[in-house]
Amino acid sequence: MTTLQEYLKNSGVYEDLSKIIILIAEQAAPIRAAFISNQSYAGSTNASGEQQAAMDTWSDTHITRVLARSGLVRAVASEEQNDITTFSSAAKYSVVMDPLDGSSLISVNLCVGTIVGIYDGDVLQAGKNLKAAFYMLYGPMTTLTLTVGRGVAIFALNTNGVYQLLEDNVKMPEGNLYGSGGLRTEWLAEHTKYIAEIEAAGGKNRYSGSFVADFHQVLKYGGVYAYPPTEKSPDGKLRLVFEANPIGFIATQAGGAVSNGVSNTLAITPAKVHQRTPIYVGSRGMIEAIEKIHRA
Ligand code: AHG
Ligand code: MN
Ligand code: MN
Ligand code: MN
Repeated sequence: MTTLQEYLKNSGVYEDLSKIIILIAEQAAPIRAAFISNQSYAGSTNASGEQQAAMDTWSDTHITRVLARSGLVRAVASEEQNDITTFSSAAKYSVVMDPLDGSSLISVNLCVGTIVGIYDGDVLQAGKNLKAAFYMLYGPMTTLTLTVGRGVAIFALNTNGVYQLLEDNVKMPEGNLYGSGGLRTEWLAEHTKYIAEIEAAGGKNRYSGSFVADFHQVLKYGGVYAYPPTEKSPDGKLRLVFEANPIGFIATQAGGAVSNGVSNTLAITPAKVHQRTPIYVGSRGMIEAIEKIHRA
């Protein structure tokens, strides 16, 4: 059995980076334990204008406090914090996070997760500069899907509280699952055409309302997760820094791709922490198909 610690050591990952990854991954257990007493809404809204679930703020505060105490982190940018929190300019790595993704599903006990990206230096960098990206998924198992730039590995938290390696060198197959956010009546012509092509080819709709859970299916079975631009929201819904980039880096490391429909979002240097982006992430063929439609 290979543990997360052994995997990171064998991957030659810098000590401080490994420590940050392990520190955040270890918060899965306390986060899972907090769900039962945090079912409601916090009564506040975040910088994206969303009502914050109690678990959004609980997990954000919890992870931020753990990182602050560690002395290992330069700065944190979170979906649930208006501004970047700076800890120590002497520290090397910065953390970007969606502390709880899919939080509208907590009260119906569906799969949610925590998405994290780690940069060497400051926060507002292009996703292609990520040194690590991972997500914890709170489902039947608690899993950790991780890349440190040497492929993708999946771990499961065992009954001893140890992350054991389930699968290494994960490769995203071509597949026909598709999940798309946005209201069908508000989709733009290119997206409508794209989905029609997928359905004509026998594509199966899999969309739960939790990006991290829907992406994990795409990583394993192949297909695409999309949150397209609409008339009302030309930049879609998902955030570039906390959602598209870490998941896009993982997808790319597994042989898949990420795009805003026109080009690779990992190449974009964010202008603002909470900026949104349309997102198509999944099997390479599926991403090439949407970019082809936009080139036509
Ligand atoms: P978050 O809970 O971090 O705000 O993310 C929710 C996102 C994403 O997880 C999900 O795919 C999408 O919002 C669902 O949006 P709709 O409710 O508009 O479908
Ligand atoms: Mn949210
Ligand atoms: Mn999210
Ligand atoms: Mn969130």
